[in-house]
Amino acid sequence: MAEGDFLEMATTTLGITIVPRHVALIMDGNGRWAAARGLPRFEGHRRGVEALRRAVRAAIELRISYLTVYSFSAENWSRPREEVQSLLGLLHRFIRNDLSELHDNNVRVRVIGAREDLAPEILALLKEAEQVTAANTGLTLVVAFNYGARQEIAAAARALAEMVAEGRLAPHEIDADAISARLDTADIPDPDLIIRTSGEQRLSNFLLWQAAYAEFVFLPILWPDFDQAALVSALEEYAHRERRFGRVESPRSAKTAS
Ligand code: FPP
Repeated sequence: MAEGDFLEMATTTLGITIVPRHVALIMDGNGRWAAARGLPRFEGHRRGVEALRRAVRAAIELRISYLTVYSFSAENWSRPREEVQSLLGLLHRFIRNDLSELHDNNVRVRVIGAREDLAPEILALLKEAEQVTAANTGLTLVVAFNYGARQEIAAAARALAEMVAEGRLAPHEIDADAISARLDTADIPDPDLIIRTSGEQRLSNFLLWQAAYAEFVFLPILWPDFDQAALVSALEEYAHRERRFGRVESPRSAKTAS
């Protein structure tokens, strides 16, 4: 993210004074939520979709501009077949059932992640969600599906290498902006805040490049319990962080001072 892109909205909505432009969510803990109740893992994922709906509604209310959700990682294919099938079924139902509400709420859906090798019906569904909502101007909901940050960066490197091999780019022209421009998130600002539920404190191959200056909040709750209050608590913690982007002074305090 270029320094000039640093933008936050001051708002009094729900008492939050500083709202990050882009919040990313690692929705973790569905399995543990189900296990704690003696339920099958599927039930945890199903309740996870309900929590996702609450998160989207809260993001709209808080006037967050971009909400990225890690719905299925490139590594999730190695889960048991039935679990993969149930997650794909939930994605299918989420888009089928919720697309009209998202559209009515002016939400623009974007999908990041590798598209090669996806089943044609999944691909068609993801494309439909993007196309139907393409002109919307409210919240951008970025769904990370079949997403892996290392794979995304490798694909960008490959694209640049091909350009060099074809004589369309000189090696010295490869810089951070050239790589950013070839990521799935090329036209999406970097996340300001990454929230992970379940108490785990790691990125798990999520937005590795884009997270360079993100703030992290790790919530002890399991994803199916996530709600507006949990989001607000993460935003409150974020509002107290001093973001310096490698400099001495935070752009936030510089803005306040000027
Ligand atoms: C992590 O919980 C969650 C996932 C692997 C997928 C996230 C999916 C959802 C919230 C629901 C599906 C939503 C869509 C749109 C497909 P986990 O299973 O790793 O939990 P655990 O660490 O407790 O086992």
